[in-house]
Amino acid sequence: MFPILAKEAIAPAFWRFVIKAPEIARKHKPGQFVMVLLHERGERIPLTIAHSDPAGGTITLVVQEVGKTTMEMGTLPVGAELLAVVGPLGTPTHIEKVGVVTCVGGGAGIAPLLPIAAGMKAAGNTVYSILGGRTKDLVILREEMAAVSDEIFFTTDDGTFGRKGFVTHALADLIAEKGKPDLVVAIGPAIMMKVVSDMTRKDAIPTLVSLNSIMIDGTGMCGCCRVDVGGQTRFVCVDGPEFDGHKVDFDLLIKRLRAFLPQEQEARQRFLATHQCRAMQGASNA
Ligand code: FES
Repeated sequence: MFPILAKEAIAPAFWRFVIKAPEIARKHKPGQFVMVLLHERGERIPLTIAHSDPAGGTITLVVQEVGKTTMEMGTLPVGAELLAVVGPLGTPTHIEKVGVVTCVGGGAGIAPLLPIAAGMKAAGNTVYSILGGRTKDLVILREEMAAVSDEIFFTTDDGTFGRKGFVTHALADLIAEKGKPDLVVAIGPAIMMKVVSDMTRKDAIPTLVSLNSIMIDGTGMCGCCRVDVGGQTRFVCVDGPEFDGHKVDFDLLIKRLRAFLPQEQEARQRFLATHQCRAMQGASNA
């Protein structure tokens, strides 16, 4: 069992969990993830490790409530135990000194970006970061990312924080001002990574993306997470999650991500109905 040692709300529907998982903390490298199973009747979900503390034996997971299981995880208190946390899984990010690395993060993608930006900085790179979200509260981990960046820029769709617009606008300005970086790392919604990759392809800027495909086992056996990269089928859970953004078939990825939307919506509604019902029963018994 894997106890929750700390839990903090970092934005609306965003939680930061510190989980006791000494073996995983000892082995974790930037770019890797874990598969989490809340209880016997739950589903396995992939969650990126945002931070690990080998000395303290803990890993930090940043969870956005988007589906039934992440919403259920958001109800767990400190002291609750997760039935299974398997990992670290996936191929670690190749960290090396390349010169200038521009890290572009959107929404929940900022969490997996943090250890990569920290690793790139520690390797001696100049790190520029661009973080974006729909609104100010959804631009998460701003201080943590600033701490590992030489310069940081923010964008919001509604203009409530930083520049009004999308991360790609800020990226275009940054390239115009400082020249082409040696590497772009983009992590966020699939459409964001597609637009960033389309943009950098024109300038031949190497671009790494971290894909968030649907997973079941997380170990390369089910084939559920398959994506097309450069005309070849690759498994995100073992070959990735990071790939050359210029070679990913994002249209196929987006189509596959939408394959179970009706079922996901139904599971969410069922969870909400049950949860609200229990909450009301608790209130009337109090
Ligand atoms: Fe099953 Fe990747 S999740 S092969």
